[in-house]
Amino acid sequence: MLTYTFNDHKPLYSQLYSYIKTDIQNGILSSGEKLPSKRSLAKQLNISTITVENAYLQLLDEGFIYALPRSGYYVSKFHVQSFEKKPSKPFLLEDHHKHYSIDLSSHATSAENFPFSIWAKLSRQVLSNHQDDLMKSMPTQGTTILREAIAQYLNEFRNLKVSKDQIIIGAGTEYLYSLLIQLLGTHQNYGIEVPGYRTLHHIYDAYNLHVKPLYLDKKGIKPSSLKDVSVIHTTPSHHFPTGITMPLSRRMSLLEWANEEKERYIIEDDYDSEFRMMGKPLPPLFSLDQSEHVIYMNTFTKSLSSTIRISYMVLPPHLAIRFNDHLSFYNCTVSSFEQYTLAYFIQEGYFEKHINRMRNKYRKKRNDILSLLTESPLYPLVHIKEENAGLHFLLEIKQDYDYDHFISSCHTKGLHIKTLKDYGGKDDKTLIINYSSLSLASFKEAITILYDVLKKL
Ligand SMILES: Cc1ncc(COP(=O)(O)O)c(C=O)c1O
Repeated sequence: MLTYTFNDHKPLYSQLYSYIKTDIQNGILSSGEKLPSKRSLAKQLNISTITVENAYLQLLDEGFIYALPRSGYYVSKFHVQSFEKKPSKPFLLEDHHKHYSIDLSSHATSAENFPFSIWAKLSRQVLSNHQDDLMKSMPTQGTTILREAIAQYLNEFRNLKVSKDQIIIGAGTEYLYSLLIQLLGTHQNYGIEVPGYRTLHHIYDAYNLHVKPLYLDKKGIKPSSLKDVSVIHTTPSHHFPTGITMPLSRRMSLLEWANEEKERYIIEDDYDSEFRMMGKPLPPLFSLDQSEHVIYMNTFTKSLSSTIRISYMVLPPHLAIRFNDHLSFYNCTVSSFEQYTLAYFIQEGYFEKHINRMRNKYRKKRNDILSLLTESPLYPLVHIKEENAGLHFLLEIKQDYDYDHFISSCHTKGLHIKTLKDYGGKDDKTLIINYSSLSLASFKEAITILYDVLKKL
């Protein structure tokens, strides 16, 4: 006989359902056993027939019981063991984003540099003016308004004549790389710059793709290294992390290489081109390309914030058509709310003002940092390199040292720092100094730590 007591916290049918389910799981009600009729159980428990019926229906839906016409309800066939909970092993996930008091490897933007008040004003405008648009599904490539704004921006500031239909918006360059692998094919032989952007390496690895390391000379990728590759990735405006700017002659050689075969592509990652500090920027490979071999990529990670997760790529027309034919089943990964706000930000001229303001700020910060460095006791021990483009520069340590000991001593003192070796290079004596999120006070402290560590090595 089923005897259960009820409380006031949950609906009665739900309590009855749970009691019977638990009894089935514990084997108290066994497979094939007939349950009391709705009416008799209701009477026995002093509840309504409808309550019992609802509980039985729920058990029926979940397959714990079955009904036989004109006969009643029966417990389904189960092995009681299948309900036994196996104790799960406690586990701890490794935190891949360790926090240091000073992080010279961080690409973050400091909060004082994000245009919060304008962003808030534009977000409000978007929320009141585009309520219908925000609820509609958007094209795979991203909202029309943002793609138009980006096309106009590229035309005015990078001299790239592109249509909105060539632009694909995605949540970060790294996500767009996955799309590109799907678009260009896993049969391609990919080549990546070494040293270079490590995330790329991880992405190609995750797809089990064989990638060829492309070692660099002073001008960037060597054309002689391209014999057995078909798709290459490059950062010609400001190579990451060595900082070299690829000269025009080398850009032309890469284009010549790509032109030799139909299915050869150059992926041009222009990730921090907005922040060239001296001289005129060189034309992107995309603008020099006459035969649809270059894919242009850029991101708002450097210009706005690494947490905003908005990037885009510009495909040559035949790839834009291929994308539309084969990959338009995907939904765009950036929320339309953010896309509308960013589109307003660009179209109303705030982006250009923000970039100009940030370029001046970063230029001043870089100069202040370099002055601090040249006036410090560390200066005689180092050589400053590639400080004229982008948001990082290099610091070569003149003395010999033990790399592991150096890095771990810095970590112990709360300083996170990377060398070219951490990006796949051989050189473990050249440090990469990212300064976008660094305060002068922190940099001063970093200099002191570096000096102390080097003196004691
Ligand atoms: C070479 C390079 N490309 C792209 C990015 C930006 O990637 P994402 O758009 O995924 O933030 C970075 C970030 O630092 C980078 O160093």
